[in-house]
Parts: sequence; structure tokens; C-alpha cells
Amino acid sequence: MTKVAVVTGGTRGIGKAISKELKNDGYMVVAIFQNNEEAAQKFRNETGCETMKLDVADFDQCHGAIEEIESKFGEIGVLVNNAGITRDGVLHKMPKENWDDVIQTNLTSCFNMCRAVITKMRERKFGRIVNISSINGQKGQFGQVNYSAAKAGMIGFTKALALESAIKNVTVNVVCPGYIETDMTANISKDILDKIICQIPEMRMGKPEEIAAIVSFLASDKAAFVTGATLSANGGQYMV
Ligand code: CAA
Repeated sequence: MTKVAVVTGGTRGIGKAISKELKNDGYMVVAIFQNNEEAAQKFRNETGCETMKLDVADFDQCHGAIEEIESKFGEIGVLVNNAGITRDGVLHKMPKENWDDVIQTNLTSCFNMCRAVITKMRERKFGRIVNISSINGQKGQFGQVNYSAAKAGMIGFTKALALESAIKNVTVNVVCPGYIETDMTANISKDILDKIICQIPEMRMGKPEEIAAIVSFLASDKAAFVTGATLSANGGQYMV
């Protein structure tokens, strides 16, 4: 039976590359998106993957969506928590809303989605959960107390859930991309981005496909003994 893979933020950027890679691996992919209908339509036409609109920050919506996906398409074998937003700004100027939005969308979403899939994965004694964190959750980033906190939180979340899930053959890992060519990094001003690229030993940004390849491995049978791991892909910018 074809297993289902769910990818949040799965129609654009890194998530889109992950959705495509998992489809190539033989998964029936459901890509979750929140707002950008146009990008979702384009993604559907291009890939033939299913899409579903929901707010990953909303606990009830996540549970409803997971139930719907399982009843429509079958058992979920892989969950990739990739959805994320930035609301950059220094702490002393940061409105509370920018803190709340980033924590809810980037970190609480991880709880919401994992909580919705974990019981069935445990019962079936199989599951692959991959969380997409960031280099900025590992090293901190000027202007990103909210984002760095959420992404660091995902790393701790991953390790704790990996401990709880290992005995049930459910692996939980976290990938920390560095600066990758996506809409998110396209929003950084050119002078700041130039300075960042100078700090990357490979002297280039990464490509979404370079993150998708790691997720594909973590989702595969070959990675059965890898759990609780933090995999960095950042062109050498930060070594931990
Ligand atoms: N380290 C130390 N000081 C810094 C600094 C840094 N990295 N960046 C800026 N400063 C200093 C500036 O020199 C300036 O000092 P003075 O007032 O003495 O001149 C002061 O901090 C204020 O800087 P700005 O004028 O830039 O402040 P701002 O409020 O206009 O902008 C900011 C702040 C929006 C955070 C801007 O600095 C910025 O966009 N930074 C980039 C943040 C970033 O890397 N985001 C990553 C987005 S992509 C992503 O998140 C994906 C991923 O996972 C990697």
C-alpha cells in the first residue's frame, strides 16, 4: 500500500522541493499551505500532488486535517513539519504579535501536527517525523529572537519526542538548513544578504533540493537507526 507523506508549507520553497522528492520516492504527498492559493494551484499543476489549506497554528484544524487525510488517502507514514514564517526585528522594537505569530506558526505547529499523527504511528509501529529547523535556531541571529527561539525549540522538541517514540519504530529528526534560495531569503535586503554569504565557506546559498535530499534519506528505510539527530546543511557556515 502506498504510504502517505504530509508536508507543511509544502507548496513553496524548501517544502515544495521536499514534496517533489517524496513523490519521486513513491509517497502519496499531501502538501499543506495556508494562504497562497495561486502558488498552491501552480504546485498542483506542476507536480500532481494533493494540497490542503489549513492553519498549522490551529490545533483543531490540524487534527481535522489529519483525520481527513487518513480517511481520504490512507495511513500517514511521514510527517514533515516545514511551515515557517519570519517577523524579523530587534527585540527592543518587537511587537508582541510578532513574537506570538512566529512561536505559534513555527513551533506550536510542530506540537499540533505531531500530536495529531503520533497515536496512529505508535499503534502501527511505524513513522517518520522530520522537523525543519534552521541554522538560526542553532547559533542565534541578530534581529530574530522570535525565530531563533522557535527553531531552537524545534530541536529540543525533536530530541524529546525521539526518546518517547524510538521503541515504537517512529523516528524523529531535525534538519537545520542554512541560508537557502527561497522567497523567505529573497526578502532580506541585498546588503545584509551579501554580508551573510561572505560568512558561508562555500560562498553560496543552498538550494531547496539540497534540503529535500536529506529529508528523503531520513524518511527512507535506510535511516531506521537515525533518530533524535540534528542534521545541518549550511555550506559550512556553522559547525556543531
Ligand atoms: N550584528 C551586530 N549588529 C548589527 C547586525 C549584526 N548582524 N545587524 C545590524 N546591526 C546593527 C546595525 O549596524 C545598526 O547599528 P547602528 O544603529 O549603530 O548603526 C543596528 O544594529 C540596527 O541595524 P538596522 O538598521 O539593520 O536595524 P533595523 O531595525 O532596520 O533592521 C533587521 C533590523 C530587520 C533585523 C535587519 O538587521 C535584518 O533584516 N537582519 C537580517 C536578519 C536575518 O538574517 N534574517 C534571516 C531571514 S531568512 C531565515 O530566517 C531563513 C533561515 O532559517 C536561515
